[in-house]
Amino acid sequence: MSSTPTTEQVQKALSTVHDPEIRRPITDLGMVKSVDIADDGSVRVGIYLTVAGCPMRGRIEKDVTEAVTKVAGVTSASVELDVMSDEQRKELQTKLRGGQAEKEIPFAKPNSLTKVFAVASGKGGVGKSSVTVNLAAALAAQGHKVGVVDADIYGHSVPRMLGASDFPTKVEDMILPPTAHDIKVISVGMFTQGNQPVVWRGPMLHRALQQFLSDVYWGDLDVLLMDLPPGTGDIAISVAQLLPGAELIVVTTPQQAAAEVAERAGAITAQTHQRVAGVIENMSYYTPPGSDEKVHLFGEGGGQTVADALTKTLGAQIPLLGQVPLDTRLREGGDEGKPLVLTDPEAEASKVISSIAENLVGRPRGLAGMQLGISPTKR
Ligand SMILES: Nc1ncnc2c1ncn2[C@@H]1O[C@H](COP(=O)(O)OP(=O)(O)O)[C@@H](O)[C@H]1O
Ligand SMILES: [Mg+2]
Repeated sequence: MSSTPTTEQVQKALSTVHDPEIRRPITDLGMVKSVDIADDGSVRVGIYLTVAGCPMRGRIEKDVTEAVTKVAGVTSASVELDVMSDEQRKELQTKLRGGQAEKEIPFAKPNSLTKVFAVASGKGGVGKSSVTVNLAAALAAQGHKVGVVDADIYGHSVPRMLGASDFPTKVEDMILPPTAHDIKVISVGMFTQGNQPVVWRGPMLHRALQQFLSDVYWGDLDVLLMDLPPGTGDIAISVAQLLPGAELIVVTTPQQAAAEVAERAGAITAQTHQRVAGVIENMSYYTPPGSDEKVHLFGEGGGQTVADALTKTLGAQIPLLGQVPLDTRLREGGDEGKPLVLTDPEAEASKVISSIAENLVGRPRGLAGMQLGISPTKR
């Protein structure tokens, strides 16, 4: 008759079980919660999963049972699953990163005063970047400290539109963003060779975005705008994970077909639990020189349609923030790196964008309402 197995023997068997995703022994990853060995040789193993509903749970359960059953003297093996606490998960992450704690994203901290807006659209070419840079310029002109992240890997155009031709400087492990028109700008385009198209898959993009947010020295920003790639892809989910407080701005044209795609881009926030700040309709109409007539080149009503549909889907009032008319000078300004809101603040398109900016952010913050990190002294 074989004797009861020892904890050591069981632990040794458990060290042969690898987490299927991390590919390291579960004993190294802090995943073994407990080992109970009864006199009759039955063994109960407690296992911490890294996340609740881990898709690999079945596999881990099976591998652990198999490994433990092989130990001499074990009559039966059972597994009890538990889930790591936030603390344990952080510890694991630090361990996986070779002992280095993750750099913080300042905008994700609960006491951050920076308003973050992610500008999204269903399709490309609707003026997402043009709206982003003009909003940024309007906000800067209104006295806010503004930063822009160009996260549109397929069509990064923000640096050109803002005339930010400099490259970021690296100081130690910090990246200093170039500035144009008082706006700090960082773009995926600054990290790629020449004008090569980038084939970036989800994880790389996530990593790049994380770096833009944690390694770039933004200073004390009032507003951060992010120009997202068109569509409802991975990046929207990355933004939600990295910056849960970011609000989405959806840009669309008046066309109904464009509106439907734009709505899908906004509806993803139902899953990511982000707020939608509102919808901007761009290229709404054209007013020929010397006339007051509004010519609706691209149809009508798309912006309102998206706002209404999102209101229904999300169960919250989503406003149409404004309708920006077509203006050739807006395009020219983009080509020259001089946003129209700065070169001609009186243009109708500029006025619309400036008023959207004001409504989104309000007045520049003074000391009132600011957390100074001190407590009042008692008298
Ligand atoms: N309101 C507008 N009036 C005139 N041209 C515009 C307007 N909005 C965008 N454009 C032009 O349309 C093109 C696409 O705009 P862009 O901002 O690059 O779109 P996206 O970022 O959605 O792909 C650019 O050439 C831009 O200058
Ligand atoms: Mg663009």
